[in-house]
Amino acid sequence: MNSRARVLQKGRLLPAMEKVLAEEFAAHRLADEADPEAFLKQHGAEFTALVTSARFGADAKLMAALPSLKVICSFGVGYDTIDVAEAVRRGVAVSNTPDVLNDCVADLTFGMLIDVARGLSASDRFLRRGEWLKGAYPLQTRVSGKRLGILGLGRIGRMIAKRASGFDMQIRYHNRRPVTDVAYGYEPSLAALAEWAEFLVVASAGGAETRHLVSKEIIEALGKDGFLINISRGTVIDETALVDALVHKRIAGAALDVFEHEPKVPTELMNLDNVVLLPHVGSGTHETRQAMANLTLDNLRSWLEKGALLTPVS
Ligand code: 8YV
Repeated sequence: MNSRARVLQKGRLLPAMEKVLAEEFAAHRLADEADPEAFLKQHGAEFTALVTSARFGADAKLMAALPSLKVICSFGVGYDTIDVAEAVRRGVAVSNTPDVLNDCVADLTFGMLIDVARGLSASDRFLRRGEWLKGAYPLQTRVSGKRLGILGLGRIGRMIAKRASGFDMQIRYHNRRPVTDVAYGYEPSLAALAEWAEFLVVASAGGAETRHLVSKEIIEALGKDGFLINISRGTVIDETALVDALVHKRIAGAALDVFEHEPKVPTELMNLDNVVLLPHVGSGTHETRQAMANLTLDNLRSWLEKGALLTPVS
């Protein structure tokens, strides 16, 4: 390891990952500082590497406080919380953890899709309230054979499509550009995809470019029999418009693992049985989080030993 490298850890990470960061890299935990700003003022220039996560990110202010920074290794595939343009400007390399979470996120997407269509969570609550003793649970909506629209046929979107084929679903997708190596139908208009779809899954990246892509108009196009599932970022959907559509039953339901202002969830959604609400757990399995930790650490090692990242974001 480059002996001049000093590693700063932003935010708390998996205990097993923190152990390696401390033992192998002698990383300093910014979260342990009572006054992080004062600490950075005094020691910021000593750090050449930053380890962060999709949740904690790294903004321009933090980069300015770390003038010797050369690399940011982030735990998570999404990097909308990292100011990549500023990193590029400063000559700071950035890595994320693609691919290792695809399966778990796609698995959860299907769990959410089936949950919202068949009412798994809602019927569980119905049973626990003792309501089964008074009568049967109302009929729900079939999943197999239905029309699935995917917004964002990237690494995770493809895994969702693969699972959907096991449910004999018809699949179409919307991306900025068509993907050349798939047989699914490309829909150049997101509104047309929403109108066609019975289930619309949001699997695109977050950030300024996709902000509120799923607008009031797209939600209206999905219509009263349509279900919306979001496993990407809350910012991709106009949450105010979605809440309004759900409250007034202008769409059939929604399953959401991500929100615009996490961990805050609109209170209007709390009592709606046609909504499945999850606390951002798409990649949250022991296996996948460990794989993400390993890839983050491997990126850091590779940078320190060879000056190159394994999975750079740009
Ligand atoms: C989590 C994620 O944010 O990888 C991502 O982009 O959204 C998730 O895996 C994870 O908690 C990392 O912060």
